[in-house]
Amino acid sequence: MIMEKSLNVAVVGAGYWGKNLVRNFAGAKRCSLKYICDLDEKILAAQKKNYPNITVTADLDAVLKDKALDAVVVSVDVPAHFEVAKRALDAGKHTYVEKPLTLNAADAKLLIETAKKKNLKLMVGHLLEYHPAVNYIKELIGSGKLGTLYYMYTQRVNLGIIRQNENAWWSLAPHDISVICYLFGSEPVSVSARGQCYLQPGIEDVVFATVKFSDGKIANIHCSWLDPNKIRKMTVVGSEKMVTFDDMEASEKIRIWDKGAAIKKDTAATYPEIISLRFGDIVIPKIPSSEPLSIECAQFIDGILDDKPILTDGNDGLKVVQILQAGQKSLRNNGQPVNPQEV
Ligand SMILES: NC(=O)c1ccc[n+]([C@@H]2O[C@H](COP(=O)([O-])OP(=O)(O)OC[C@H]3O[C@@H](n4cnc5c(N)ncnc54)[C@H](O)[C@@H]3O)[C@@H](O)[C@H]2O)c1
Repeated sequence: MIMEKSLNVAVVGAGYWGKNLVRNFAGAKRCSLKYICDLDEKILAAQKKNYPNITVTADLDAVLKDKALDAVVVSVDVPAHFEVAKRALDAGKHTYVEKPLTLNAADAKLLIETAKKKNLKLMVGHLLEYHPAVNYIKELIGSGKLGTLYYMYTQRVNLGIIRQNENAWWSLAPHDISVICYLFGSEPVSVSARGQCYLQPGIEDVVFATVKFSDGKIANIHCSWLDPNKIRKMTVVGSEKMVTFDDMEASEKIRIWDKGAAIKKDTAATYPEIISLRFGDIVIPKIPSSEPLSIECAQFIDGILDDKPILTDGNDGLKVVQILQAGQKSLRNNGQPVNPQEV
């Protein structure tokens, strides 16, 4: 019997989000979670209780020296992403980094270069690109059923988690930006963002940002941790149909609205005859309920073991970082548009 190769993985950072990655990699097929590494002894003790057979340690150097270790999953605080990911790549390990990849485009480019030179996979945790509902919309767009894609907007608001080392834009918008770029598939050319700091100086609690694309598409992102409602919603508007994706809905996450407006070509007609509005059916398709995080983890494992391209690779991470950086610059300049290629 041929033994199938299994990937030896370490998760670095097992805090609020990292523990989900630990759970997924510990249970994933073709994978053996060898280490859980964190600087916090309490977190290590809790993980040891859950996973007595996995080595828990605060010593990242010792983890990286293990020649049998294939891959490192980085879920530390965002400012430490670059340093930990660079050390992992330098040590010859395939590397997964939580979103956003880095705090600036230069660091993201350096990680991409290092991975390329060493022939290693670099993946970013753009979770929503693995969401079955997002992929359903992607297929709808591809099938042409929405018609010409016009614009979309996203709302990611709630009360908390209020971060101290990043603003709501950096903390919440990466997911929306990655989905917008994924669905549109076109080049972002300007970002204009306005926001306000109420709770902590210099840290925006609420941000409204507009991203324009080279082909005329436009997207608006509203993110906040200071809001009465928990909303996780996206609206995509096409010339033929419109789609909403509500991630707070348990089962009816997607609605396809057969609604639209058109201007008649008949120049003899006068308003209101010149405009035709269409109010058709609303369709609620069945979406598979698979956990996006387990699909994402499988993509990392299979990408390495089968040497397959990774959807959310370093370049995908770089694009999101460039938009984040452009938005940050715009926030500091009263909403002036900034080209993400020039940050
Ligand atoms: N995909 C998602 O939906 C999602 C949701 C929340 C957070 N995140 C991402 O997950 C990452 C972690 O966020 P969090 O909310 O879990 O933060 P957290 O503060 O709860 O956890 C970070 C952990 O990293 C540890 N750590 C820091 N530096 C370290 C180092 N050098 N070596 C080892 N351990 C180290 C800390 O001790 C802490 O336990 C961030 O990148 C964040 O953007 C993703």
